[in-house]
Amino acid sequence: MPADDEDMETRLSAGECIDPPSSFRQQANLSDEAVYEEFAADWPDAWARAGDRLDWDTEYDRVLGGDRPPFRWFEGGRLNACYNCLDRHLDAGRKNKVALKWEGRLGESRSYTYLELYREVNQFAAALRDLGVEEGDVVTLYMPMIPELPVAMLACARIGAPHLVVFAGFAADALAMRMDSAGSEYLVTCDGYYRRGTPVHQKNKADNARIELDHDVDATVVVDRLGDETPLDDDEYGYRDLLAAHRGTEVDPVHRDASDPLFLIYTSGTTGEPTGVRHTTGGYLAHVTWTSHAVLDIKSEDTYWCSADIGWITGHSYIVYGPLALGTTTMLYEGAPDHPEKDRVWELIERNAVDVFYTAPTAIRTFMKWGEQYPEQHDLSSLRLLGTVGEPINPRAWKWYYEHIGGEECPVVDTWWQTETGGMIVSTLPGVDEMKPGSAGRPLPGIGATVVDADGTRVDPGEAGYLVLTDPWPGMPLSMAENEGWFVDREPTRPVLDRFDWAYFSEDGAAVDEDGYITLLGRVDDVINVSGHRFGTMEIESAITDVEGVAEAAVVSAPHDLKGQSVLAYVCLAEGYDEEPLRDTIQDAVGTAIGPIAVPDAVVFTPDLPKTRSGKIMRRLLSSVARGEELGDMSALRNPEIVGELETAFDGNN
Ligand code: WTA
Repeated sequence: MPADDEDMETRLSAGECIDPPSSFRQQANLSDEAVYEEFAADWPDAWARAGDRLDWDTEYDRVLGGDRPPFRWFEGGRLNACYNCLDRHLDAGRKNKVALKWEGRLGESRSYTYLELYREVNQFAAALRDLGVEEGDVVTLYMPMIPELPVAMLACARIGAPHLVVFAGFAADALAMRMDSAGSEYLVTCDGYYRRGTPVHQKNKADNARIELDHDVDATVVVDRLGDETPLDDDEYGYRDLLAAHRGTEVDPVHRDASDPLFLIYTSGTTGEPTGVRHTTGGYLAHVTWTSHAVLDIKSEDTYWCSADIGWITGHSYIVYGPLALGTTTMLYEGAPDHPEKDRVWELIERNAVDVFYTAPTAIRTFMKWGEQYPEQHDLSSLRLLGTVGEPINPRAWKWYYEHIGGEECPVVDTWWQTETGGMIVSTLPGVDEMKPGSAGRPLPGIGATVVDADGTRVDPGEAGYLVLTDPWPGMPLSMAENEGWFVDREPTRPVLDRFDWAYFSEDGAAVDEDGYITLLGRVDDVINVSGHRFGTMEIESAITDVEGVAEAAVVSAPHDLKGQSVLAYVCLAEGYDEEPLRDTIQDAVGTAIGPIAVPDAVVFTPDLPKTRSGKIMRRLLSSVARGEELGDMSALRNPEIVGELETAFDGNN
């Protein structure tokens, strides 16, 4: 059954409630339900609980400055994120505790204690400085899941240079677009990496991106992952050589203003091009550290594993910054979940005695399909808590995870948040709240989130509406603070104004039940969520229409058993072009412009696209055809004769 439609009814109906096991509650970082009330009664000052988990070079004067955008979290405070993730743990007696445990794609593993990580980060920070990187310069990091990626992130943070991590699977065009947009003149990449045992030449992609850039790159650092000694140009430097040249060097952490940017990350939205989101040093770090403590229940003694890729926000917040700020052991896995065998994930959990595991629903559905015989081969009793993120989780997958992975002894937290929110926004508190499979939970303490209709009025329990955030939150990005178009200046036009004349519209549909639990219903904009990764339909369409012979294209999502959603492209060709040779060209074009995950599963050729009288493509109709649904009201259609053709074309392709 398609994951995005499977028992939506069940998700919305008052489903079953499951109490967290008392063994979990007893040891939870947070187990007193008064926390909700405490945050409500003392807002925003209660957020000092998050701020005070960090070490500040200069204490902040106020928890929240500004009563309208730009909001300034932890105003007056100065701190360094790298210091919070590394230096302070050395003094706290954790210097020989493993900070980072890496499991490589070829079966290798490597561990870094806090002291070892501190040393390597310092050496690399010194090297970046020598290459000319100054405070405020944007450094692009284009690497797969290898330890050098978090090392480079922390080294940038140490010298106050915002990093821009670009997902390694993205193509050269996507890298160039991001570097240009961010004005980034420094690049750290690697020679290549292995995907299912086959080498991918990352450096070639980086070279191609450099050719496309509108500006020069001052220096490129190349990590040797494949070991095949890539020849380097004059402005290219080997990572190991740089470390050797800076052995034993220490760099003082640069103290940054709480609202100075820690990093940039690009994400897909409604526009044709991905937009850059800038996260702050103080508010962001406080938010992810606090939620790693309160929701993921991370303790410094733990071994924690988040299976996301660092190229996405989840990896930034919950592989690198939150867990390291808490001094835990964070695992980094480079490989595939089914290599060498389909029990790989469970073997890793058993071998490393993982305490907390955080993954995506799409992965859980895949594990379910493979069957419980794989987890059954392993002792998973080290697990204490399970989490999910990235898409709605259907109750069937939720229960499978709870029973077969958690042995009904681990709470499951279904955490809703976004690149823009920096950290978790809606989730149960695992030591406090009962769980409702399929529903994420209430807004976290101190978070103002609600569901409104198109007029901005709160909807009644059970009715669908739009999820909006009505109060500022510490992890809010800088662009929002600076009011670059984040006011509600679109539908819904009148948000519920609880405290401020301001709200943030999440672009997600949702419903709330009588207990205030929020059930997410998916995006309401033109964003497709493939295996928890966001792509704008317009981004994909523009890659397709760049292909010679394509006249017009419309991209919609289709439900997919494992991926949640898949990409489906409807394409009209110009006169004189043949369909078949172009099908592959179109798929390749998307792979080259964006990356393999965005490639359409199906390309449907059609003589025309359904258009409204005002000339807009009627995507609703295209989605309905793909889903085999009733087509609904078509009176707005200018070319109703196309409907039959579309259905025939679609059936011919599937
Ligand atoms: C979706 C990932 C339902 C949602 C952290 C959101 C979810 C988008 C959940 C953000 C969840 C994320 N339940 N939907 N628990 N978590 N989403 O920016 O549509 O890559 O808007 O951030 O993923 O994706 P992004």
